[in-house]
Amino acid sequence: MSLLEKDVTTSTPKAPPAPAPAITDIAIVGLGYVGLPLSLQFARCGATVVGLDVDSAKIEALNAGQSYIKHIDGVAVAREVDRKAFSASTDFARIRDVQAVIICVPTPLSKNREPDISYIVETGKAMAPHLQKGTLVALESTTYPGTTDEDLRKVLEEGSGLKAGTDFHLAFSPEREDPANPSSVVATIPKVVGGYTPACLEKAVALYSIAIKTVVPVSSCRVAEATKLLENIFRSVNIALVNELKRVYAAMDIDIWEVVDAAKTKPFGFMAFYPGPGLGGHCIPIDPFYLTWKAREFEQHTRFIELAGEINTSMPDYVVGRVGEALNAAAKPIKGSRVLIVGLAYKPNVDDERESPSYRLLEKLKQRGAEVAYYDPYVPVIRQTREHPHWAGTESIAWDQKTIAAFDAVVVATAHDCVNHQELADWAECIIDTRNAMAKVKVARGKVWKA
Ligand SMILES: NC(=O)c1ccc[n+]([C@@H]2O[C@H](COP(=O)([O-])OP(=O)(O)OC[C@H]3O[C@@H](n4cnc5c(N)ncnc54)[C@H](O)[C@@H]3O)[C@@H](O)[C@H]2O)c1
Repeated sequence: MSLLEKDVTTSTPKAPPAPAPAITDIAIVGLGYVGLPLSLQFARCGATVVGLDVDSAKIEALNAGQSYIKHIDGVAVAREVDRKAFSASTDFARIRDVQAVIICVPTPLSKNREPDISYIVETGKAMAPHLQKGTLVALESTTYPGTTDEDLRKVLEEGSGLKAGTDFHLAFSPEREDPANPSSVVATIPKVVGGYTPACLEKAVALYSIAIKTVVPVSSCRVAEATKLLENIFRSVNIALVNELKRVYAAMDIDIWEVVDAAKTKPFGFMAFYPGPGLGGHCIPIDPFYLTWKAREFEQHTRFIELAGEINTSMPDYVVGRVGEALNAAAKPIKGSRVLIVGLAYKPNVDDERESPSYRLLEKLKQRGAEVAYYDPYVPVIRQTREHPHWAGTESIAWDQKTIAAFDAVVVATAHDCVNHQELADWAECIIDTRNAMAKVKVARGKVWKA
């Protein structure tokens, strides 16, 4: 018997309850990498969706049927806008007209690497005055256990005068988006859902069942929050493991990529993870530390998370060390050398460069006196960000033989499919490869340094 069935059957009301009104109108707050595809998926499945965001440029673009995310087709946005199944707005009063609100706002770390849930709190404050009786509020932002039923509940109750579980429903359902992975389709990725009460869970399952094939109910918001953290900690720890083994095996003149490829032929008990120049993106470098922070409240230590963080954050230093060795072999110091970083995005085939280790490489090489530049067709110019304000306005270099050959060293930090690595092999003088991208092309002996 599923948890949902159990919850429904054990709550024995005296009179048969009136059937809950079907969910037809939904608001999705935060129209980024998570909120936008989710909005389109609900719209395609028959719901009327209003997307809310504080960024008016995004709202304008969406209402004009345009996308600002590379792997989300503008045509898909335009189709739902034209059908009036999706519209975008900055007006939180629109929450009055919906039966469910899904929150997908950022959850970064502060400068001191502590959870910054201010976006969730601000969203709660903005929507609370408009919250109606019977509305479901579901949080999707990755966060520590307790955020939904402590922090979000508090601001919603204070701002609305309503009580969670009695007057409105509250739930947490983590997002499992994998941008640019063609087999990662919102509709078919099972969705874990936890409710504040059994009735909240029931409502949340009904909501997600509109658009998601498999909904996985769990016993509480906290279990759902903890599930997402386990998934991301699992990745962080395993990436750290192969990053450490990369260095150990390199010292033994063994190629880690060949080892992983051989190990993954084992049909059970092994899952391939690949080394790289360090962690990037909005999830894996950040989310595990949400748990570290919360665990302190319970006098618990998260040693795996700390160790993985230590290894993963040391990777850019290892890569810079390899750049130094490669230049040294050509009797050149890092200082004054021209070094190109290929790939600014944190993973292949996306335009998302948040937390990308490429920034750390640019920074560290510049500190050592190198003249640095980057090439990324998906990031033609670096936009203004909180984390890297001084790189804003820097442009990707041109991709041609003369430009590439003018660099003393080229670091492959991210291997987009659209980058011609054969041309790189032909044109560049010296290549430091953190992704094993050059293994697939013909390259002169001694030109590539794996890192
Ligand atoms: N990107 C991913 O692949 C991914 C995967 C799984 C989980 N997540 C989690 O989902 C959450 C959102 O991530 P994302 O990548 O979509 O972020 P994002 O930065 O792409 O999008 C967030 C959006 O929220 C908007 N926003 C910020 N404050 C707001 C407010 N107060 N009210 C309304 N809108 C506001 C921003 O303008 C932006 O459009 C995070 O918690 C993240 O950890 C992300």
